[in-house]
Amino acid sequence: MSTNTALQDFEKYIPLVGDVNTKTTLAYKTTRGAVQVVNTIQMAVAEAYINGLEVPDSVLQGLFDTCMPIFFKYFPSLLAPYEWVLKETEHIAEESQELMKVQYDLPQTMLNTMLGESKLIYPKYSMGLWEKGALNLEQSQIQMIDDVIEKLDIKDGDEILDFGCGWGCVPNYILSKFPNVRFTGLNLSHEQCEYIRHKMQDSESYLSSGRFTLYEGNLNDAKFETKFDKILSIGVFCHVGNLTKSFEKLASLLKDNGKVFIHIITVRTPNNISSVYTHKYIFPQGRYWNYDAIPSHDKDLKTIQKWYLNGFNYSKTFATWLINFDKSQAIVKDLNYGMEYAKFRRIWRFYLIWFSRNFASCDGEYNGNGQYLMTHAS
Ligand SMILES: C[S@@+](CC[C@H](N)C(=O)[O-])C[C@H]1O[C@@H](n2cnc3c(N)ncnc32)[C@H](O)[C@@H]1O
Repeated sequence: MSTNTALQDFEKYIPLVGDVNTKTTLAYKTTRGAVQVVNTIQMAVAEAYINGLEVPDSVLQGLFDTCMPIFFKYFPSLLAPYEWVLKETEHIAEESQELMKVQYDLPQTMLNTMLGESKLIYPKYSMGLWEKGALNLEQSQIQMIDDVIEKLDIKDGDEILDFGCGWGCVPNYILSKFPNVRFTGLNLSHEQCEYIRHKMQDSESYLSSGRFTLYEGNLNDAKFETKFDKILSIGVFCHVGNLTKSFEKLASLLKDNGKVFIHIITVRTPNNISSVYTHKYIFPQGRYWNYDAIPSHDKDLKTIQKWYLNGFNYSKTFATWLINFDKSQAIVKDLNYGMEYAKFRRIWRFYLIWFSRNFASCDGEYNGNGQYLMTHAS
């Protein structure tokens, strides 16, 4: 027996440390008990901040910089606040309407100014690629999409589905590069779909070229008559709770020689993670899949290549969004958030500061983004 195997064998009896999925019943239950304590402390700190406790950003950053590496390296099981985070849910996506209300259908002026918007690059709510030398957010998003084009091997004439298309940023940019590509975008957010509909009427937008079709609806019920050469999904699988069913669906929409490209937030810890804070205030039912979760589901689609993108890229993206968010106070403070603006602002500042530090912790090696190139399994 190798030392590693012996250690893993021993570890299953020890609560808290290592892989929670392999624990004995007693060690598992003890770990789950400790998770409740962590959840309570996390919510107490977060809600004290939200409710007005004055804490300089540097102190908040220092707290995250100190705690997160310890959790990521030694106690990842404590970052799974609910049991559903560890296993597949019943539907592809759960609590989707609540997610739209809490997050994606928020006042679009707030989201758009935070995410940035230009003639070609519409708001894009996913990682920018900074490691190739981008000088600003727009460049980082362009370099990110160029990277997708290359890895997915997009060719002129492809019929492409964007599963969770946001504001249509990725389709708009790709349509501008390839005069014969056709795109279909799927999105449940009514407000984002309204933005896209507006662009579909705007002669300066590539979404008005007649080569873009919008489908407003839920991933759970999506049905298309066409089969696609390529399917891409960027920043959406943190809202997907059932990989098995989602890959079955994607495979049914893919041509025989087609390819799927998934880009997600991922963690290089033994188990998936989430947090009570983001579940309540930011992404209901959101989770961050372990880096190997997608390749391990190979029934309908198989992963033929995967990439880990260092968390530094998303840390810088979040830090830039925080600057944009702070700069836009005067224009966003009177919008309707369903709560007092001061509270909303603190909820979002806590999230943006936390995520910018999360992705930077452990030199970006534990919490980054994963990309997966997939084909039909057989
Ligand atoms: C983080 S954003 C990413 C958007 C876009 N791919 C990008 O990179 O900018 C996630 C997107 O998934 C959509 N989404 C989340 N859950 C969904 C569901 N159940 N059905 C359809 N769309 C969903 C959201 O409305 C949002 O547009």
